[in-house]
Amino acid sequence: MRLRLLFIILIWVGGGCQSPSERKMYTIGFSQCTGGDEWRRAMLNDMNRELALYPHFKLLYKDAANSTTTQLTQIRELVAQGIDLLIISPNETSPVLTEAIDAVFQSGIPVILLDRKITSDSYNSFIGADNLEIGRMVGEAIPNLLKNKGKVVEVWGLRSSSPAQERHKGLVEEIAKSKSVALIAELDGEWEQDTARKAAQAQLDLLRQADLVFAHNDVMALSVQRVCTEAGIHPLPLFVGIDGLPGPKSGLQGLMEGKLTATFLYPTGGEEAIEVAAQILAGKATKREYILSSIRIDHSNIKAIKAQSDKLLHQQQDIEKLNQKIGQLNDTYATQKNALYVIITCLILAVLLGIWALYLVRAKQLSNKKLELQNQQINEQKNKIEEVSNKARQATEEKLRFYSYISHEFRTPLSLILTPVEDLLNQKAISQKDLKTGLLYIQKNAHRLLRLVDQMLDLRKTDAGKQLLQASEQDIVLFLREIVADFQQKAQKSKIDLQFITSSARVALWFEPEKLDKVLFNLLSNAFKYTPRGGYIHVALQESPDKVQIIVKDNGEGMSETEKERAFDLYFSGQKKYSLGTGLGLALSREFVHLHHGDIEVASSKNGGTTFTITLPKGDAHLMVDEKTSLEPTERITPIFFDETDNPPMMQSAGEVANENTTILLIEDNTDLSYYIVNKLNKMASISAYTNAEEGWEGILGTIPDLIICDVMLPGMDGFELTHRVKEDFRTSHIPVLLLTAKSQIDAQIEGSKAGADVYLTKPFNTVHLSETIKTMLNNRAKIQRRFGSEHVFMSDNKSEKRFLNELTARIESHIADAAFGVEKLSTEMGMSRVQLYRKVQALLQMNVNDYITEIRINKAKTLLRETNKSIAEIAYETGFNSPAYFTTLFRQKQNQTPSEYRKGNGL
Ligand code: FRU
Repeated sequence: MRLRLLFIILIWVGGGCQSPSERKMYTIGFSQCTGGDEWRRAMLNDMNRELALYPHFKLLYKDAANSTTTQLTQIRELVAQGIDLLIISPNETSPVLTEAIDAVFQSGIPVILLDRKITSDSYNSFIGADNLEIGRMVGEAIPNLLKNKGKVVEVWGLRSSSPAQERHKGLVEEIAKSKSVALIAELDGEWEQDTARKAAQAQLDLLRQADLVFAHNDVMALSVQRVCTEAGIHPLPLFVGIDGLPGPKSGLQGLMEGKLTATFLYPTGGEEAIEVAAQILAGKATKREYILSSIRIDHSNIKAIKAQSDKLLHQQQDIEKLNQKIGQLNDTYATQKNALYVIITCLILAVLLGIWALYLVRAKQLSNKKLELQNQQINEQKNKIEEVSNKARQATEEKLRFYSYISHEFRTPLSLILTPVEDLLNQKAISQKDLKTGLLYIQKNAHRLLRLVDQMLDLRKTDAGKQLLQASEQDIVLFLREIVADFQQKAQKSKIDLQFITSSARVALWFEPEKLDKVLFNLLSNAFKYTPRGGYIHVALQESPDKVQIIVKDNGEGMSETEKERAFDLYFSGQKKYSLGTGLGLALSREFVHLHHGDIEVASSKNGGTTFTITLPKGDAHLMVDEKTSLEPTERITPIFFDETDNPPMMQSAGEVANENTTILLIEDNTDLSYYIVNKLNKMASISAYTNAEEGWEGILGTIPDLIICDVMLPGMDGFELTHRVKEDFRTSHIPVLLLTAKSQIDAQIEGSKAGADVYLTKPFNTVHLSETIKTMLNNRAKIQRRFGSEHVFMSDNKSEKRFLNELTARIESHIADAAFGVEKLSTEMGMSRVQLYRKVQALLQMNVNDYITEIRINKAKTLLRETNKSIAEIAYETGFNSPAYFTTLFRQKQNQTPSEYRKGNGL
């Protein structure tokens, strides 16, 4: 495609640059015997003027300067240059020159002889005047001029040249007719002014006798005339010449000036030579000879001839000027034409390149698009792969999390089975009441475990596809009414408005009561869990011709968007603490509803309640044969429902009274466990319990407890985060934290230690172990307190504690001279409440804040007593005591010596 375009352009450019009117170029060689005189110059001018009409002719001009040898060389050069035609004015009729011209002619190059001849016929045309005739005209004129009597001296041109020979012959022929006119001498002028002058100077005697001097051309005639004039010959002979050229120092001028008597026009034939050459080159026939006519010019016609020749000269000059102009115009035209061609060519090239560029751009765009598409596809595939792998990873993670939570979920009820068992076993004498309470815990939690295990097995069966529907036609209204009735007691306790709403008295539906019972049990348990006291839970049955809808609606705390979306996902726990009871229950419910060829949907919003809608198809058309059973359903067993708030009474304590001075803060979301721990520990400390970490944190800040017991897996902020927060805040950093959790893995324990937990106990735990651990922790804290209190050297590893004590001390020291600086100002500066500061300082140093301030003042005073000569009074004021007397009293109390004794004791 590209090559073809280039080819077309080249053809156009090549064709365009060649004008259709332009013909083949011809080279004409012109070998001139001499170019050194006016006549020859006139000949060349004539030629050039004529050549202006033939722009396809190129003239190669060679001047032989009267040398035959030179002319021979030049002929060869012209032929070598590849001339198409030779015009030659041969220097002489010599054989060598004739041969050379013969050779040119024989080689096929046309030859035109101009003015002079050769001795062979090897030429196409001869152009020139008839020299014999001119000689005769001169011979005829002489008797006339000499009135038939006189002596004539002839001045020859080059004797070997044809014009000289013929002119002489004509002359001699004619003057022979007159008896009294005699040719007395012949001088050799060889056409040249100088040669003629020399010859004349050598023959002055003869010239003195002469009545008429006839020279073969005007140049020689005028040259001899001057010699005669200069020689003082008198009377001067008449002078006759040939050529009749216009212009200064020429024949016509000589005639006008009276130097010549007559001259004979001898045309150059320059124009004619070009015309004939054009005909030959055009392949046209030409004449063998073109004889140019001559006339005699003398005083009778000189004026007219002069005028004519001047005019001619003028016209020729005009023509030359015109030619020049035409030449210039031609040049301009050619330049412009070429420029135009170049511009057009460039334009075409630009357009073609533009098209090409467009084509390339288009191609590039297309390939880019293709690439983009491929890229997009690759990206899509990549994204899909990533999505799949993410899903797989997520699924694996969630599965792992699920198993970890399963064990966690098992550990809490197990704790509540094992701990009471251990407690009962440890008691020497068990009261009936304690036994009952313990057994109730055990029963409740054993049922809980059973339910979890059942659900897991059900789910496992469903997963394995082994769960088969065994539907029979039942009255769904009655079924639902019974289930709701089972929950009525619980609803009353929780002050929840539980209702079953339906307009149908009886609706026959194919379902498996056992499975649907589990579904509804789960939905209702879930609703009770999240519905606050005073809320409502409504179960409704709606019927349409082809289906029934069971709606369980509550106005509980509701679910977030993500929780809602994944409510039925087995491995998703949402933001909430993972509750296997709920997670497993809902997942299982969905499976069971699907087994019924029905659907379950959830609508919920945060704080806007939750509605579960189960849609089940009517009739049995959707059921396979093996999904139906003709067996009567077994009697519904009322599920054992344990309310989490429905705790057994506290087990009897062994008569120990709670230590009111020690405070423990417990954060445990399992109310059973929380209740149990509180019950167990309340004899050793005053315990405040919280079910989530946020509220727990507020409690910590408010009470600055002596110890914190915290579960790890909590809704919202977990135990690790809370521990971290406690240990980072200098108000609470001193409080020992015991993490109590079902997470038994070592990495969870490491995480707990990292967060700053002091002790990590796993569930199920032993209550004795728990209380012993707590005692040890409290004792350790007391030891540290003692150390801090006595030395004020803050060696604690806990950076936050160190920072707190350093800051506390620095602030007191910066106000040491201010007697009004007390707890009030210090707590403001520390950014704590008075109570917080009091509790913190008490916990860390086992002294109250005021005592600590006094201690710093005394310590400073001791330094001043030891290291300065300041008076006791000065030191007292400098360390913030209102009076030296009060200072001395306090100092003695603390140091058992007066300030002066102390100073003396230190050698001052
Ligand atoms: C010029 C010239 C003319 C003369 C002619 C003869 O070179 O000498 O004067 O007429 O040549 O060939």
